[in-house]
Amino acid sequence: MDKIIAELKKKIIEIIKKSNNPEEPIHAKNTLEWMIKLEPQADEALKIAALGHDIERAISKRKIKRENYTNYEEFKKAHALNSAEVLSQLMETFKLKKELRKEIFI
Ligand SMILES: [Fe+2]
Repeated sequence: MDKIIAELKKKIIEIIKKSNNPEEPIHAKNTLEWMIKLEPQADEALKIAALGHDIERAISKRKIKRENYTNYEEFKKAHALNSAEVLSQLMETFKLKKELRKEIFI
């Protein structure tokens, strides 16, 4: 399982690096680092969630567009759900254990 998790993290980073916004990989890395500082006992589910929490923004075809939402909170919610959906699909592709997938998705 450790190898699968390492491969999944690598894939998440790879996707985020392709973002049109050069800040995205730095933001993902900073979020993960801060999360570990605040929660040193963080498990892999939390680390993967931190790393990929904005992943949908890096995929132009799937990105939630601000202009399609009049309400900012609804836009942010759609963005968060879409990132979770992208991560969920990646976890399926990498055949992560169902329990871990659930934990990351929540
Ligand atoms: Fe973020």
